[in-house]
Amino acid sequence: MAFMELSLFLSFLSFLAIFCAVEVGASETHTIKFINQCGHGTPCLVLNGQNVSTGQDYTVNDIFAGIAYLQTGQCNTNGEGCTLLEMNLINPACAGCGSSVDISLISPHVYNVEASFAYYNGCDGYGADCNGPNCATAFFAPEDWDVQRECQANNVNLLIAFCANASDIVLGGGGSSPASSSSTSSSSTHTSIPLPSTGTTLSNTTMSTATILPLNVGSTPSASSSGSSPSASAKKCLTRPSSTSTLARREPTALGAKIHRRHRALRGSVID
Ligand SMILES: *[C@@H]1O[C@H](CO)[C@@H](O)[C@H](O)[C@H]1NC(C)=O
Ligand SMILES: *[C@@H]1O[C@H](CO)[C@@H](O)[C@H](O)[C@H]1NC(C)=O
Ligand SMILES: *[C@@H]1O[C@H](CO)[C@@H](O)[C@H](O)[C@H]1NC(C)=O
Repeated sequence: MAFMELSLFLSFLSFLAIFCAVEVGASETHTIKFINQCGHGTPCLVLNGQNVSTGQDYTVNDIFAGIAYLQTGQCNTNGEGCTLLEMNLINPACAGCGSSVDISLISPHVYNVEASFAYYNGCDGYGADCNGPNCATAFFAPEDWDVQRECQANNVNLLIAFCANASDIVLGGGGSSPASSSSTSSSSTHTSIPLPSTGTTLSNTTMSTATILPLNVGSTPSASSSGSSPSASAKKCLTRPSSTSTLARREPTALGAKIHRRHRALRGSVID
């Protein structure tokens, strides 16, 4: 009898062990989505000096620290000469250690187009929109910390929009957000963000939202994003391998400094 109980207990323990192992092994996931309403230019998402997206959805089952900009012809590899977005998407391991995204116009970055971002699948619609060279929503000096937008929800996604207001787009569907408020969202990501069904929230009606907003995030949890959309790219993003570290060059920009200060412990893993 006692033996029976013991063996039951042991099998319960092993069940727990397996369950916990699976839990620990579960990674976080983040998707970055682009909408370009400028009518020209190519969205570039840069990770470790490489273009990992030129407008396609990018999903990663990990933390993500990178930069983005709209290549309108004059931008250099790391967005120099253009409006820069800096993002650090990470599930918070401590209070206040979550995601942070900002727009930077710190030299050598120069305003080229309106750039905006907004979180979804958590912190829905929270973001910033820099729509002019003197906007109040971008870094102009390294101490402009107030322009950073932080989100402490797990597995948040990010919409980046050019010549449009990402917050408006995310919130445009009005009403309730998708049934995905941060909690224990499963690893099979099937997320959708509320959409402006008729496009009424978009002032520029030359582009139909139906055609540009297939905002259902696919269930592909891979980081690969094979080039598919032959977008009207004025200038294609080059994907030549870069041997130099981007983050080293990004040091003077705001996010680099911030990461360095606040996530020093994480920094090694962010870089490598
Ligand atoms: C962008 O949209 C948000 C949400 O509607 C709004 O609060 C914000 O003022 C807008 N920003 C600009 C620059 O229009
Ligand atoms: C819409 O976008 C086109 C292309 O960028 C631009 O020429 C036009 O002025 C815009 N219209 C409005 C109402 O913003
Ligand atoms: C990424 O694409 C942009 C736009 O074409 C280009 O300027 C930049 O050099 C590319 N970066 C790398 C590392 O190839």
